[in-house]
Amino acid sequence: MSAIKCKRVLNRFQRSKVCNELMKLRTTTLLVILLTICLLIFYNTKIKIDDSQQSMRYKGHNIGTEFERFYMDVSSDKLMDPLIHKHQFQTLLNTGKECKAKHKFILVLIYSASYKFNGRQIIRNTFGSISNFANRYIEYVFVLGQTNNDTLQGKIEQENYRYKDMIQGNFIDSYKNLTFKRVFSLFWVNKYCKDAIFVIKIDDDITINIPLLIPYLNNKVDKNITNVLECFTMFKIQPYRIPRSKWYTSFSDYPFPTFPPFCAGPSSIMSINVIRQMYKATSIVPFFWLEDVYGSGFLPWVLNIKVVQPKCYIKDLHQSVNKQPCHLFYINNLKNVSDSYEMWKTLETGYKLKQNHSCKCW
Ligand SMILES: *[C@@H]1O[C@H](CO)[C@@H](O)[C@H](O)[C@H]1NC(C)=O
Ligand SMILES: *[C@@H]1O[C@H](CO)[C@@H](O)[C@H](O)[C@H]1NC(C)=O
Ligand SMILES: *[C@@H]1O[C@H](CO)[C@@H](O)[C@H](O)[C@H]1NC(C)=O
Ligand SMILES: *[C@@H]1O[C@H](CO)[C@@H](O)[C@H](O)[C@H]1NC(C)=O
Ligand SMILES: *[C@@H]1O[C@H](CO)[C@@H](O)[C@H](O)[C@H]1NC(C)=O
Repeated sequence: MSAIKCKRVLNRFQRSKVCNELMKLRTTTLLVILLTICLLIFYNTKIKIDDSQQSMRYKGHNIGTEFERFYMDVSSDKLMDPLIHKHQFQTLLNTGKECKAKHKFILVLIYSASYKFNGRQIIRNTFGSISNFANRYIEYVFVLGQTNNDTLQGKIEQENYRYKDMIQGNFIDSYKNLTFKRVFSLFWVNKYCKDAIFVIKIDDDITINIPLLIPYLNNKVDKNITNVLECFTMFKIQPYRIPRSKWYTSFSDYPFPTFPPFCAGPSSIMSINVIRQMYKATSIVPFFWLEDVYGSGFLPWVLNIKVVQPKCYIKDLHQSVNKQPCHLFYINNLKNVSDSYEMWKTLETGYKLKQNHSCKCW
């Protein structure tokens, strides 16, 4: 699960939870006050989202301009990484399926740590079993890095022999190496699956509401919207400057007070031409280890691609079981997956009955 964003996502969830609980107090007065507070929070969020990414200022400095000077005027010795910049990737393990065999509407890339067998199995047992929805084909691919553990590698190869849904790149699978995973994914899509229409990147603890996502994306196709980069958007996030933090960022690694807008790690939706452009851009953007900041912040910034947060985007799954599934993504609790299977029952029923969703999300 990727870094800073998650923390912020949780914060936001907690906020709405607090709102919900307070709402239960029945006195009208309280209701009115609370409604005002909630509205204010909502309004606030809105304002942040509407901020233009090109005019980020901090203490009188235009971060946009300084960021561009720093990252686009960079000396060539910072662009020499064999993987990030030279794209010398090897696909050590491939799905063995031809992505082009059926025209794929969505390619789902699931970032999975090599040892997380259970997370992968839950996805295969639930929404990952839907490969065709309303004649839109969906392909699911687990993205792994290398491991030095031969036993583990053997198990991974067996798993892929059975399911043919895993790819493995030539970098050690570790949290600090996630940016390699990101760029490897871009490489792989361009090489093996470039005819997909949309690419969705998720962590292995996410449930996708396929019956809602397909009509959501169909609507974009109908409207000829081709530059899509959508996610839970993080605005004006400050780097962690305390050395013992898991996400510590030194001033020499990143000298500015805030990051450009970027996508919260757990999920994002990209159209294929955004993927194509981002892959090209990797060769001119210096390495930065925070994968979501690099892959969904720096790359779209230098390309001038706007990061957008849709309505009904993501919610905590536990809070959502037994309710109408009106969010595109849900965050599972992998420590207790009973809710995930409960949610799948709901989604599967809708899928089998081909029910038209009645969620007002676009
Ligand atoms: C190697 O992987 C196996 C299988 O996942 C695991 O049981 C074992 O503890 C690992 N060994 C080391 C040294 O991490
Ligand atoms: C990945 O991480 C490991 C340690 O976690 C490191 O030794 C390695 O050099 C990193 N980079 C690549 C490309 O594997
Ligand atoms: C979408 O693009 C196609 C081809 O470029 C065009 O024929 C069609 O009219 C466009 N549709 C809309 C809704 O703009
Ligand atoms: C897992 O979650 C379900 C639903 O929230 C709950 O009923 C159950 O007791 C939990 N199981 C464990 C082992 O915590
Ligand atoms: C769902 O919507 C489609 C197109 O709008 C319609 O043809 C179909 O009959 C609807 N299905 C149900 C079960 O209402």
